[in-house]
Amino acid sequence: MSIIDKINETLQGVQDMHAANMEELEALRIKYLSKKGIISGLMNDFREVAADQKREVGMKINELKTQVQDKINALKDQFDNMDNVDDDIDLTRTAYPAALGTRHPLTIVKNEIIDIFGHMGFKLAEGPEVEDDLHVYTKLNFAADHPARDMQDTFFVEQNENVIKNIILRSHTSSVQARVMEQTQPPIRVICPGRVYRNEAISARAHCFFHQVEGLYIDKGVSFTDLKQVLLTFAREMFGNDTKIRLRPSYFPFTEPSAEMDISCNICGGKGCGFCKHTGWVEILGCGMVDPNVLESCGIDSKIYTGYAFGMGIERIANLKYQVSDLRLFSENDVRFLREFEAAY
Ligand code: DAH
Repeated sequence: MSIIDKINETLQGVQDMHAANMEELEALRIKYLSKKGIISGLMNDFREVAADQKREVGMKINELKTQVQDKINALKDQFDNMDNVDDDIDLTRTAYPAALGTRHPLTIVKNEIIDIFGHMGFKLAEGPEVEDDLHVYTKLNFAADHPARDMQDTFFVEQNENVIKNIILRSHTSSVQARVMEQTQPPIRVICPGRVYRNEAISARAHCFFHQVEGLYIDKGVSFTDLKQVLLTFAREMFGNDTKIRLRPSYFPFTEPSAEMDISCNICGGKGCGFCKHTGWVEILGCGMVDPNVLESCGIDSKIYTGYAFGMGIERIANLKYQVSDLRLFSENDVRFLREFEAAY
């Protein structure tokens, strides 16, 4: 290796020089700058260099020496500065572990629901919590005197002469259905999670706010069979492959026919226990075929399109999954309760 190559190689190494403490720094000084160090060695080789190259090589060696000295001085400064730091502080100690929060159980369940329907092609949609009567009730085929509009259920923000203009806190996420249908033509396949409000006395079994997920699928030729299959898939993904479902006829103003879906009690496996009131079944959601009146009121041609909708309470699903029997726990933010969900995400 020529002397120039040797110098260049050493120069490159200087850039990466580092020392963790004074001892290591001293070792570097000895390696490069002592009598038997690299630079001395190069000076020895310098004697052999041909006269016409001496000038160039000499300058290179000087440059190397300066760089090594500068680097060592810079490292030394660093350690000197550290010496000024209060001796009580141990800079080598690991930092305090940051206390990580946990996801709220309702968020965990919500994300799981979104995930399951996401895999079946449902997109996410959201709507306002402060809504008007038009989207919460009128467009969803609630008759003007339907009891759900009553003060007992609905929180009013602003009451108007004209009922459909009433500003209210939405009492179900079905209002998002109406908003999506107004804005998009089919095919529509959405899942709408969100918080809802009802004017109820707070107890272990009821709260003035809770969470729902609404589903809506509208296209040509959508049938009740499609609805049943999607809900069965959901139930099995959520509660396990052995889960059975059953649909019972029901009534909702916005669906016809309407049904409520039960799943085989996942606590006793359907044998009957206190949780399922010894029936082996627990109700988890409402569903049905979107009423043609609803399609029409939202600007969708009911002669061309059909669709299904369903709605479920997130607390209800969380209750079944984690056996949280007192609804109030979900909103009290007791960290002892929240920490129980550390392992789940
Ligand atoms: N909105 C209903 C409720 O709050 C739930 C529901 C039932 C939603 C049937 C739907 C449905 O979309 O088809 O109780």
